[in-house]
Amino acid sequence: MTAKPWGGVFSEATDERVEAFTESVSYDQRLAALDIRGSIAHARMLAAVGVLTGDERHQIEAGLSAIGAEIAAGTFVFRRELEDVHMNVERALVERIGDVGRKLHTGRSRNDQVSTDLKMWCRDEIDRLVGLLEDLQRAFVGRCSQDEGVIIPGYTHLQRAQPVLAGHYWLAYCEKLERDRGRLLDCRGRLNLLPLGAAALAGTSIPIDRQHVADALGFDGVTANSLDTSSDRDFAIELASALSLIAVHLSGWAEEWVLWSTTEFGFLKPPQQFCTGSSIMPQKINPDVLELIRGKSARVIGALQSLLVLAKGLPLAYNRDLQEDKERLFDAVDTVRGCLELAAPLVAGAELRREQIAARLEAGYLDATTLMEHLISRGVPQRTAHELIGTLVRTAMQRGVPLSGLPLDAFQEAHADLDESVYDVLGAQRAIEAMRSLGSTHPDMVRSQAAAWRARLKME
Ligand code: ARG
Repeated sequence: MTAKPWGGVFSEATDERVEAFTESVSYDQRLAALDIRGSIAHARMLAAVGVLTGDERHQIEAGLSAIGAEIAAGTFVFRRELEDVHMNVERALVERIGDVGRKLHTGRSRNDQVSTDLKMWCRDEIDRLVGLLEDLQRAFVGRCSQDEGVIIPGYTHLQRAQPVLAGHYWLAYCEKLERDRGRLLDCRGRLNLLPLGAAALAGTSIPIDRQHVADALGFDGVTANSLDTSSDRDFAIELASALSLIAVHLSGWAEEWVLWSTTEFGFLKPPQQFCTGSSIMPQKINPDVLELIRGKSARVIGALQSLLVLAKGLPLAYNRDLQEDKERLFDAVDTVRGCLELAAPLVAGAELRREQIAARLEAGYLDATTLMEHLISRGVPQRTAHELIGTLVRTAMQRGVPLSGLPLDAFQEAHADLDESVYDVLGAQRAIEAMRSLGSTHPDMVRSQAAAWRARLKME
């Protein structure tokens, strides 16, 4: 039996089933490098305030670095009976340097330690995710020049609505991803206060210097209330929430592209390197990556739910329940990272099937709203114009033609103010060119937005 670091008060050994049930080292070992970094900063601070001698600090630091190297090399053996990564590292330190190692945990607790490790982990992951979001934005912006001038049907209710430029569509996702990026950075900004020094829940009587540690570890300051700090997992929940929105955005996009790559739509050919086949049907080329991006959103949203339910109803301060935060958070981050890594090359490598899109672009009366606005601009009230154009669409449907296929007298019959100029706004191309409002799909607006994105993402 390994003696527990907390064993003094106990006269009975821990039941093995409890060791298996309570351990977290099987998954929190991925925090090891950060845990060591935090411990080194803590030891340096203890020496700076005179709690450790320079020599003790040196021994501790050298020991921790050696343990870090062993962990990085994969030769370190984590022991389940030592519960978590923190106690594994500390025990290894004591075994390596002896009694001096027993001084490391002065003025801190695993409660503030685990929160510090986890915040540092979140920070690093947020930085990676932000970079990946930008890569995906670049992929969408890159498509704007690739698909310059291509018009696609825009949908509401998944029914054909109005024509839009393909570039307008790509940039719509850039906007969503930009808000996602902002949420991640906002979360990073708020979480970046050092928990270490809150100790168990009440602070410590040891004369520690928390700001010293905060500076060493790149925190913007220290948390203000030790009780709050010991219990706080808002940052993990905020991150899971930002991740859930990313997953929701990716899932919607993936669903759209799954539809677009059907024979029925025929809008898109996903790159074959991102498709897989069927074990029985020889002809199949399935968009599995898109489907899994859609499907994996479930895990991320599930993680957010788990974390919210975990935190709900916990009294102050630390409760062991909080140990359940890590697997969910790790999984959510890993999942979103994996999705983003594949989304960018998928977006860049897909092919719009221009002829197929163009062949059916005049179906569905995409220009009806622009024609209505044409009539409004001649002084007809919107409700009246809506009614009149609705009647014209009905006539065109009965004749099996697009609006531009109706003769002039059909328009004039609908309203005397309609003259040959109606043909100037009919058809997808003209409908797009008639757009004026800021943020619309007019080619000039889309072009200037694409240019702004290129500059913002440093693409040239
Ligand atoms: N492994 C624990 C966690 O992840 C660390 C803190 C444990 N603290 C305690 N007093 N048992 O939350």
